[in-house]
Amino acid sequence: MNSHSIIADAAEPFRSSPTARWPVEFRPWSAWCGHAQFAFWLVEALRPRSIVELGTHFGLSYMAFCQAVNTTGIDAACTAVDTWEGDAHAGTYDGDAVLSALKAAHDPAYGRFSRLMRTTFDQAAASFADGSVDLLHIDGLHSYEAVRHDYETWLPKMSDRGVILFHDTEVRERNFGVHRLWAEVSKDRPSFNFTHSYGLGVLGTGDALPRTLSPLFDAAKDPHAAADVRNFYSALADRTFPPENPGPLRRALSWIGLPRLGLR
Ligand SMILES: C[S@@+](CC[C@H](N)C(=O)[O-])C[C@H]1O[C@@H](n2cnc3c(N)ncnc32)[C@H](O)[C@@H]1O
Repeated sequence: MNSHSIIADAAEPFRSSPTARWPVEFRPWSAWCGHAQFAFWLVEALRPRSIVELGTHFGLSYMAFCQAVNTTGIDAACTAVDTWEGDAHAGTYDGDAVLSALKAAHDPAYGRFSRLMRTTFDQAAASFADGSVDLLHIDGLHSYEAVRHDYETWLPKMSDRGVILFHDTEVRERNFGVHRLWAEVSKDRPSFNFTHSYGLGVLGTGDALPRTLSPLFDAAKDPHAAADVRNFYSALADRTFPPENPGPLRRALSWIGLPRLGLR
């Protein structure tokens, strides 16, 4: 690769997208907050017919996908899967309270096309036909073994224009192993890795990915272009969610809906 970018302004398609200006409507505390704006772009570019999230917790990432579907008017069926019991990395929490706060925001706004499934990822897999999922977000337990298991269980469910997102590709502590799996799976497939907000890997798994995803996967082939796109979304994330420490009070109370009371 020479020192000049193969793409003059790689971030332009993202910068000029209306999705870059959408407000994030549901804002509980989440390590995922820096990716909400990209979720909007991805949903508009991929126009998925089916979205599944493995690991929802307070719901920030999932509600971003739902907001994108709702705002774009795409005909997509969305499913969030979580036991709402926590795990070794997320910790344990009061799942009934968290789920009921999420339902209060989710059901009236998105209930007509989206469902919250309280079960394990493995049990949920039986409800999806092979080749039926266009967009999958894997954000459960982050050990190498767990994320590999989730990936292998769900890969057959992906459609010919399937895209899988992996959160925490940049975390290398507490036995997080997403970075290891990411290094393996991103070698031979279209991919892009964001490094802010703990890292988000975007993997094209289908053989018929829409051309609208090209600005992303093309940018990954050139370090300058990739840096442009990363810098754009990282700066956008800082403007959307100023990089404050949420603090123990805000973190602990986010499930009762502080954001919706305007106290964020
Ligand atoms: C990191 S959190 C999800 C964060 C969320 N995506 C966000 O936007 O903040 C991981 C969640 O995965 C759930 N989880 C982990 N392993 C699971 C499994 N095998 N089946 C169902 N839920 C699981 C936990 O209960 C926890 O709520």
